[in-house]
Amino acid sequence: MKMRSFFTKIIFILVAAVMLCACSAKKAPDKGQEYIGIVSAMDNEIAYLLSEAEIDHVDTIGKVEYHVGKLCGQPVVISRSGIGKVLAASGATAMLNNYNIKNVIFTGIAGGVGDETKVLDEVIAERLVQHDYGMISNDGFSWSGTGSMGDLGDEGYYYCDEELVNKAYDAAVSVVGKEHVFKGTIATGDQFVASEEYVKKLSDDFGAIACEMEGASVAAVCYQYDIPFVIIRAMSDKADGNAYESVENMGDIAANNSGKIVFAMLLQ
Ligand code: ADE
Repeated sequence: MKMRSFFTKIIFILVAAVMLCACSAKKAPDKGQEYIGIVSAMDNEIAYLLSEAEIDHVDTIGKVEYHVGKLCGQPVVISRSGIGKVLAASGATAMLNNYNIKNVIFTGIAGGVGDETKVLDEVIAERLVQHDYGMISNDGFSWSGTGSMGDLGDEGYYYCDEELVNKAYDAAVSVVGKEHVFKGTIATGDQFVASEEYVKKLSDDFGAIACEMEGASVAAVCYQYDIPFVIIRAMSDKADGNAYESVENMGDIAANNSGKIVFAMLLQ
């Protein structure tokens, strides 16, 4: 009798251990399921979307969290890679390598460039360029973003998917109104721009209407993997001497607006 209860206990412990392992095991990414990849740099840029999404589970890959679930009924993977070109490219690459991503939408904030865009306006990128890719010589910096091996997009510009651009534009118009939405070139670099002189250069040299720190690097990764993409940016500042203060005051509102545009896009 004692022996029987001893074996019953052992079997009970084994079953409990197996169940515990099964529950705590990380869910393997489902390679069959197609997802929309939503990429951002900072927590406030995905806060709205995470509050609206039904998240099934979170995978951590390379210290980046990938929130896997549904948004507006559509399968999504939502990530926040960190600030700057390196982290954005690394995060996007890990996403494309671990999930079956059909297209990528980047959502976030940016500095407005030129007279057209005001704080809280929206820019939907048609193309992106790395404004800080080049050479420092005794004569200063010279841009050589076209590359030397034909691997830096089309003459240094990465073009967003036209259909996604149009969808993002319509969604943005529905959220903030037509007079606040612009399509054009976004200049990306590993610098927070807070200089009247430099921001004018971005307009003069590249025809940029917004500047930020990740778009072109995510675009470069999508270009290399042949994944359609679009970059959506809400202006938190004007990339001038007041830029930092402006981000502190307007950053969260702008980030939320950009998230709302992604949400409206997925509802279309
Ligand atoms: N993101 C938001 N504002 C920015 C700025 N002024 N420069 C670079 N990235 C930004």
